[in-house]
Amino acid sequence: MLGHATATAFAAGTVARVAGLFVTFEGIDRSGKTTQARMLCEALGDQALAVREPGGTAVGERVRDLLKEPHVEIAPHAEALLFAAARSELCRQVIRPALEQGRVVISDRFLDSSLAYQGEARGLGVEEVFEMNRWATDGLLPDLTIYLAIDPHAAAARAGGGDRIEGEGLALQGRVARAYERLAAADAGRWRRIDADRPAEEIHAEVLAAVEAARAGAPAA
Ligand SMILES: Nc1ncnc2c1ncn2[C@@H]1O[C@H](COP(=O)(O)OP(=O)(O)OP(=O)(O)O)[C@@H](O)[C@H]1O
Ligand SMILES: [Mg+2]
Repeated sequence: MLGHATATAFAAGTVARVAGLFVTFEGIDRSGKTTQARMLCEALGDQALAVREPGGTAVGERVRDLLKEPHVEIAPHAEALLFAAARSELCRQVIRPALEQGRVVISDRFLDSSLAYQGEARGLGVEEVFEMNRWATDGLLPDLTIYLAIDPHAAAARAGGGDRIEGEGLALQGRVARAYERLAAADAGRWRRIDADRPAEEIHAEVLAAVEAARAGAPAA
């Protein structure tokens, strides 16, 4: 759970920006993040830039392959550090430059995935994982985080394959869902919780409205 120190750090951590909007999608496996990120990107056209985590840089894509390799055992601490290393590269090389150009950067997962999966579900501690990521990203935080809330059973009933994280099943997804609920409740200004067990078009309409509202409230260029 977020304590006062982390809440303060959340408020103080963002390096000042003059333009752009950083939107992230979060939620358990199969909640519809990739679907909604794609729909938002298509709706916004050229002003949008889509990224995925981990990935998007030379290091990030290799880290992604490593993390998804079922035969490579990785302990929770190393897993959290690898995600942060990929995120660090993505922030410096892709996300910050695009924001500086005034673009809307749309990320399929970001920092909060590490807080929910590694910090809470794997038991490393939300504060610890947050601090490590703050260092890795120079304190870059999303302007808007869309939480696609769905029951793990409903999500599991959707089509799916399987990798390391997904293979651990419903118990883990339940812990992650509860972690997301707590994170969203602790920072209502940044998070927007959307019921994701509905047709994709309905969800998309709410996402678009949230993005427009965030843009209207964003600092002027
Ligand atoms: N609103 C929806 N209703 C029903 N099915 C959906 C909806 N959105 C996406 N799906 C389907 O559910 C599956 C998972 O969606 P998607 O890949 O977008 O989720 P995800 O959160 O990115 O999953 P992952 O965590 O595995 O990357 C896909 O087969 C997709 O077509
Ligand atoms: Mg996805």
